[in-house]
Amino acid sequence: MGLRALLSGDLLRDKIAIVTGAGRGIGEGIARKLAHDGATVVCADVNESDASSVASSLASIGMRLDVSKADECDALVTRVHERYGRLDILVNNAGINRDAMLHKMTDDQWHQVIAVDLTGVFFMTRAASRLMRAAGSGRIVNISSASWMGNIGQANYAAAKAGVVGLSRTAAKELARSQVTVNAICPGFIDTTMTRGIPDAIREQQLAKIPLGRAGQPADVAAVVAFLASDEAGYVTGEVINVGGGYVL
Ligand SMILES: NC(=O)c1ccc[n+]([C@@H]2O[C@H](COP(=O)([O-])OP(=O)(O)OC[C@H]3O[C@@H](n4cnc5c(N)ncnc54)[C@H](O)[C@@H]3O)[C@@H](O)[C@H]2O)c1
Repeated sequence: MGLRALLSGDLLRDKIAIVTGAGRGIGEGIARKLAHDGATVVCADVNESDASSVASSLASIGMRLDVSKADECDALVTRVHERYGRLDILVNNAGINRDAMLHKMTDDQWHQVIAVDLTGVFFMTRAASRLMRAAGSGRIVNISSASWMGNIGQANYAAAKAGVVGLSRTAAKELARSQVTVNAICPGFIDTTMTRGIPDAIREQQLAKIPLGRAGQPADVAAVVAFLASDEAGYVTGEVINVGGGYVL
């Protein structure tokens, strides 16, 4: 696929994709970009009405999914397989944060974030990998975070997102023989509901650390996801890619 496909927005034509957490924010941006590039996108979110409203604007389908439940993940992948006959792209984007200093962090805050941000990625990757292995092709893109390297107030989130890096690299090794690629993206500070809750003073501090001088937008992340999901990226696997305006420099 070359320049013509790029120009016509056909880079992902005929691909079947699942995007988790597609009801708003980065996941919505990813769903819009994949659909724009020609994919049929299943918008999955624990908030079913958000998932459906994004999906209806894309002529796609929305489905309710709580990624922290193994049976729901298995059932969603089975439904997609029954409906479309295959699954080409999985984007594990759903995530939550429950920030607190370590000495004040509750058991619930710890367990909730690990359940959604790490175990959810495992459940969906396990379910999708069964189909992709059998098909001998596939693309898995996991949304980690720059916080995986450590961030004050985010012991739960950083641990989960570091876990996503280890999981992605291991899945990349295991699935390579089936021509399934697995990559992780680490967004920096992206303007979504998740970051709008941050107090102004901390928000300003974070923005001041970004060499490119602005917060990222969901579309900035979505563009990289679309590339990794395409046939063009067939020789890229096990990578951990920062999309943060130079935040980590
Ligand atoms: N916003 C940022 O600056 C930033 C930075 C780095 C990484 N990330 C990661 O990007 C991803 C998207 O974040 P966002 O900023 O768009 O957040 P957001 O809160 O705006 O959206 C998250 C979406 O995930 C859904 N969701 C939550 N729990 C779910 C579950 N159990 N099952 C299915 N869906 C669920 C929500 O309903 C929501 O639609 C997350 O994994 C987040 O950790 C965000």
